[in-house]
Amino acid sequence: MDAFTPQPRPCWIAGHAEQGVSSLAVHHPFDGTEVASVAVPGAEQVERAVAAAAAVAKEFRQTPAHVRAAALLQVSRMLEERAEEIAETITAENGKPLKWADVEVKRAVSTFRFAAEEARRFTGDLQRLDTDATGEGRLAVVRRVPRGPVLAVAPFNFPLNLVAHKVAPALAVGAPVIVKPASATPLSALLLGELLAETDLPEGAFSVLPVRGADMKALVTDERLPVISFTGSTEVGWSLMDSAPRKHVVMELGSNSAAIVCPDWADLDFAAERIATFGNYQAGQSCIAVQRVLVHREVAGEFVPKLVEAVRGLRTGDPHDPEVEVGPLIDEDNARRVEEWVAEAVAGGAVLHVGGGRSGTSVEPTVVQDVPAESKLWRQEVFGPVLAVAVVDSVGEAFEQANATDYGLQAGVFTKDVTVAFAAAAELEVGGVIVGDVPSYRADQMPYGGVKGSGTGREGVRSAMVDFTEERTMVLTGITL
Ligand code: SIN
Repeated sequence: MDAFTPQPRPCWIAGHAEQGVSSLAVHHPFDGTEVASVAVPGAEQVERAVAAAAAVAKEFRQTPAHVRAAALLQVSRMLEERAEEIAETITAENGKPLKWADVEVKRAVSTFRFAAEEARRFTGDLQRLDTDATGEGRLAVVRRVPRGPVLAVAPFNFPLNLVAHKVAPALAVGAPVIVKPASATPLSALLLGELLAETDLPEGAFSVLPVRGADMKALVTDERLPVISFTGSTEVGWSLMDSAPRKHVVMELGSNSAAIVCPDWADLDFAAERIATFGNYQAGQSCIAVQRVLVHREVAGEFVPKLVEAVRGLRTGDPHDPEVEVGPLIDEDNARRVEEWVAEAVAGGAVLHVGGGRSGTSVEPTVVQDVPAESKLWRQEVFGPVLAVAVVDSVGEAFEQANATDYGLQAGVFTKDVTVAFAAAAELEVGGVIVGDVPSYRADQMPYGGVKGSGTGREGVRSAMVDFTEERTMVLTGITL
């Protein structure tokens, strides 16, 4: 990657690269070096972007599916061709280890490819109405049409693929999209803008506006953007929904996801290795990173030491080192907060098995056990490399504890017992249950989203396409059925 550019990287206004009215410096979370600066658009530029999205909405939704599919496939291919450079960019701005940045780019390649495929399939339904005498000779053609231009507000933890999860489905259904990337990590979204600009999408179909968080309100309340797709903190998400009560808002918020290790699960090495890895991947900065580990007493004595050893073995350090598995947090404030939450839990009686320390933005991979139920570490989303272990006496108690939280995104249940698997899917208050693995498993084509404080609506390419559209029914009469 070109680490230092004399000009701020341009923002994208209605598909065109422009300099802004000010600039924003992007810093590498590991050592604080400035990796780039980006153009911040002013109010007049933001207005042009929104006006262009509104103006092109009708033309864009009538664009043939093959044109939208071709543009999406082109982006997928270009991401693949430039994968190495893009992974470097992700690591530079976000601090996630290169091995995880590589995974993120590969996922974004798939996200755009899935969207290209879905754009061709997204046809609608036929409903025969002669199921009642009053509907004889009548047929409903039910199609989905875009609700309108989408405001996509993206988080810092997956600066490419979580932007892709908003942009690709919007473009697939023919809805213009305006991206507001996270202020800490705008580079991947701007790079995506560069790739989109090479396609044949109509002018106004996309903009990338790295405006500061404080300047986002005007976009949130703008009636020309009737859909908001937000991923980020619970606090910001709900306040955003409150300020736009008439909009269709999709929110992917936080969680303190649980992994449950059941007594029938024999391969405790596998469970320990997966939980250690996915409690610490991206330094725990994923909404589905494992945070709480509920292990049955019958296997706890064997399992906990294995987990502690697996966490102790994780390689930490400079995220550009391809061997490193755990890098820094996004900034020092967050690293300090995580350190404080661990200290608070330990002061309240928790047992510290490993970790607990911090150096700058880096927090040691940590395992604590018997965390007080009221501590922040148990109740809130830590978004750091910390696993909190509790021993339970039954699978039912594990489900109860897993549900005793304001969140509900995904849960992982290590069991081979199909009755336990179905009970978990029925009883756990989450958007998804992963059987035989950690809650952190996400396939980009599957529905993804939470219940309770974890949000509303679903991502996953097709699910987001459904969310960004509404049904429009045409009834044909005098039809021979
Ligand atoms: C998230 O943090 O919500 C996204 C997780 C993922 O896409 O793997």
